[in-house]
Amino acid sequence: MKLITCCSFKGGAGKTTALMGLCSAFATEGKTVALFEADENRPLTRWKANALANNTWDPQCEVFVADDLPLLEAAYEEAESRGFDYALADTHGGSSELNNTIIASSNFLLVPTMLTPLDVDEALATYRYIIELLLGENLVIPTAILRQRVPFGRMTASQRAVSDMLTALPLTQQPMFERDAFAAMKNRGMLHLSLSNAINQPSMRLMLRNLDAAMEDLRVLSRFVQEALGD
Ligand SMILES: Nc1ncnc2c1ncn2[C@@H]1O[C@H](COP(=O)(O)OP(=O)(O)OP(=O)(O)O)[C@@H](O)[C@H]1O
Ligand SMILES: [Mg+2]
Repeated sequence: MKLITCCSFKGGAGKTTALMGLCSAFATEGKTVALFEADENRPLTRWKANALANNTWDPQCEVFVADDLPLLEAAYEEAESRGFDYALADTHGGSSELNNTIIASSNFLLVPTMLTPLDVDEALATYRYIIELLLGENLVIPTAILRQRVPFGRMTASQRAVSDMLTALPLTQQPMFERDAFAAMKNRGMLHLSLSNAINQPSMRLMLRNLDAAMEDLRVLSRFVQEALGD
């Protein structure tokens, strides 16, 4: 089981959304995914409830509440023993012992950030924090910044400037674009199943292209992560 963690000091950076998307991309490949809910606000538990209500929950995936150290240890052990291919950990903002433990146990770290000066500042602080933690523990864990909510059309001058600043750091190959289909996942459930349900519903036909384009972004992101993991 490979553990992939989304972390950022800043709230609202797009951690949970990136994780929901990756989960869908892995599930379309037939992979089993354990989701570690390390945020006491429980966004993944809510996501699962919404998905079950919309018939968009993939039973290859399971949420494990892991918002304290004993729960995290139990979740990790259970997911490992049940043979999940991947575990995805959703963390709360800021630094904590729980976050440190998750980071140090991960096989890949994703730091999502929006392209505002404030967000990028926080992403750089998160990146520095991760590197210092890993150096202190003598660990090498591939880490990449994920540019989140990037506008599809032209970027503003400020967005271009902060985007240029980020090129000095390891970035995922492609950003996650600002898409309604991504914003809607928390209510609609898993994107790949929303997509397959839409195919069978004439009223959803107009949304198909949007869902399909969003799913393609996620396939690129998941391939990038899998290559970094050597999968
Ligand atoms: N690529 C995207 N396109 C459109 N909306 C997005 C995208 N990524 C995130 N959002 C929206 O931005 C908001 C914040 O995203 P999200 O909840 O994923 O951030 P977070 O880092 O997990 O926040 P928190 O720190 O509260 O856990 C949500 O309303 C989400 O739907
Ligand atoms: Mg979140």
